[in-house]
Amino acid sequence: DIPSLKDVYEPYFPIGAAIEPHQTTGLVSELLKKHVNMIVAENAMKPSSLQPSEGNFRWENADRIVQFAKENGMELRFHTLVWHNQVPDWFFLDENGKPMIDETDPDKREANKRLLLQRLETHVRTVVERYKDDIKYWDVVNEVVEPNDPDGMRNSPWYQITGTDYIETAFRAAREAGGPDIKLYINDYGTDDVRKRDRIYELVKEMLDRGVPIDGVGHQTHISIHWPPVDSIIESMQKFAELGLDNIVTELDMSLYAWNDRSDFGDQIPDHILAKQAERYGELFKAFRENSDILSEVTFWGIADNHTWLSSFPVDSRTEAPLLFDKNYHAKPAFWSVIEAAQED
Ligand code: G3I
Repeated sequence: DIPSLKDVYEPYFPIGAAIEPHQTTGLVSELLKKHVNMIVAENAMKPSSLQPSEGNFRWENADRIVQFAKENGMELRFHTLVWHNQVPDWFFLDENGKPMIDETDPDKREANKRLLLQRLETHVRTVVERYKDDIKYWDVVNEVVEPNDPDGMRNSPWYQITGTDYIETAFRAAREAGGPDIKLYINDYGTDDVRKRDRIYELVKEMLDRGVPIDGVGHQTHISIHWPPVDSIIESMQKFAELGLDNIVTELDMSLYAWNDRSDFGDQIPDHILAKQAERYGELFKAFRENSDILSEVTFWGIADNHTWLSSFPVDSRTEAPLLFDKNYHAKPAFWSVIEAAQED
């Protein structure tokens, strides 16, 4: 019998996993119950899942995940109220079905902006009111910063139509609907990158100065066995902690490949690659443990290698193994190094 991740990390932070509704039953659910005490929906709580057409909310899949977490004494994080992906087109169409981004008339642009912010507010309020007693941690906005886009803000329809007002509206509506006890996060990938980190910092600071209720920063932490350095991940958390913000690791996984590598290990992942992954996971968790005063959750984007978004990104159906359990739910070398990293030196 192997140790439980959540028990071993109990003194430091909860250990989480992203799941699909079908993973609430069967063998995988047993693995989850043993090792994690935090659950997040991989897709079931995104706007396209919850409100596929205007006013038509679908709760069934999200409810199944909430139910599973409650039955097993797990905490929940909500992912995500706002994103530029997996958001239905209807949000961005005007009353005549015309894409708001194509509008050139200034008065109509202003009216479109109001309509979009109103739709956003309705979405946020409806969802937060439904789940506020069950879900304490909320990804309010996801991936809104992009240093290569104008002003360093992702040039999504949200931004093109409202500027940064959609971010402010989402946080304020979430706080108003959810009250002071829910915790509100801005979530992003590549937060170790100095340009991106600094742009997020600037945005958050400016919003906090205006009283926008932001409690913390979610660091997705989709990394590889090669990159980035562990120190850069921790330095980013320290920088946000100086603003008085909480940090959480929201989507941790570790690809076997460098970002621009399109090769495929096929049937046999080399032992030295799994060993390298183990070494790096160990280093990372040691650093997480040592910084647990500024880090309050570590969630994996999945639980075992048979189910990971990386099997279809950036190369379709190549062998990937970014998690701590293999495709047969057996503990990998990386699992053991993460367990070891919890021991005091
Ligand atoms: O549900 C449909 C199904 O009906 C259809 O038959 C099938 C055919 O392609 O697609 C299914 O939808 C897929 C969905 O996952 C559910 O499996 C989408 O095509 C697929 O694009 C979608 O991928 C998700 C991706 O976000 C979308 O951008 C991944 O599962 C999910 O892991 C990934 O998660 C994101 C985080 O939300 C934000 N950070 C990055 C992270 C990884 O991309």
